[in-house]
Amino acid sequence: MSFSPRVFSGIQPSGDLHLGNYLGAIRRFVPLQATHETIYCVVDMHAITVWQEPEALRRATREVAAAFIAAGIDPKRSIIFNQSQVPQHAELAWVFNCIARIGWMNRMTQFKDKAGKNSENVSLGLLAYPSLMAADILLYKATQVPVGDDQKQHLELTRDIAAKFNNDYAASIKEQGLGTEEGQFFPITDPLIAGPATRIMSLRDGTKKMSKSDPSDQSRISLLDDADAIAKKIKKATTDPAELPGDVEGLAGRPEADNLVGIYAALSDKSKQDVLAEFGGSGWGKFKPALAELAVSVLAPMNGEMRRLLDDPATIDAVLRDGAERAGAIAEKTMNEVRSIIGFIR
Ligand code: TYM
Repeated sequence: MSFSPRVFSGIQPSGDLHLGNYLGAIRRFVPLQATHETIYCVVDMHAITVWQEPEALRRATREVAAAFIAAGIDPKRSIIFNQSQVPQHAELAWVFNCIARIGWMNRMTQFKDKAGKNSENVSLGLLAYPSLMAADILLYKATQVPVGDDQKQHLELTRDIAAKFNNDYAASIKEQGLGTEEGQFFPITDPLIAGPATRIMSLRDGTKKMSKSDPSDQSRISLLDDADAIAKKIKKATTDPAELPGDVEGLAGRPEADNLVGIYAALSDKSKQDVLAEFGGSGWGKFKPALAELAVSVLAPMNGEMRRLLDDPATIDAVLRDGAERAGAIAEKTMNEVRSIIGFIR
């Protein structure tokens, strides 16, 4: 027995989806449907690790689902669902809370950034967040997880949790015949972090990540921005005065230029080198309008489709329910095995 290739990824419904979420994650989910079994999840239980207004959470959950579909994820070919409809995520996360060590969680840079000086006063869920993320992935024995660069440390932790579970319960896994030839029950998942857009930066400051929590709306392109807003934000983006270099080495030390070239490359499915072959030597007066036009041509139709879908929440909810049923069947099989490996009587 070995693990069949399966892709899982998740997005939090915790605010405006932006260009970083699209290029670093959602856009890359689409082609994987042709080669893998694919499961894409709206992780609403992760979102509540910080306070969410109930109505805003419902709206944001539907928004992520609408973005998946509008970007080209087919709810028949892929499984699209929201995490809280499959309670096995929480159940496996509890088991992993007892596998992972507190020190592992305390080392997470995302936790340290979010908690800041306030670490005694954030929710316990925020500390345990990576354990739930490992459960999301391993419940489906996913072998590959496409994410942006900021999730790398969480995926390393997922590998550590899988390895420790496999090791702690090695005898029981073997006794019950539930492992691979190497005795693995959970796979050691590979992160898929590749391409020119693994870390899209703020349009105001090329050294800061584009993020939902940046107070400046000008720092990010929202997937719900209309054509006019997209073009304006790109034209106003901070840049340095120099013209574009002819090769990638010339982008070193120029974070804003590097970011905009990376965005162009990702939106046109090219490499940064290809983009510079075309625009090297040009000034921003030529490059920015070309980028704005490209961004509008990709994002505006998606934006229209998202709005159309959001006008009909009942259809989105039906997609999520159908996805949750299909996900739940896989999840329950894994959980049954986990319960018996651990020694829980059923
Ligand atoms: P989240 O919701 O913060 O982000 C969703 C996805 O978008 C990527 N991303 C970016 N990529 C490039 N540039 C950026 N500026 C940028 N900002 C965000 C993220 O890397 C991510 O891929 N913990 C996860 C959600 C999660 C998950 C999972 C992911 C929960 N369970 C299981 C994969 C597998 C998160 O907070 O992503």
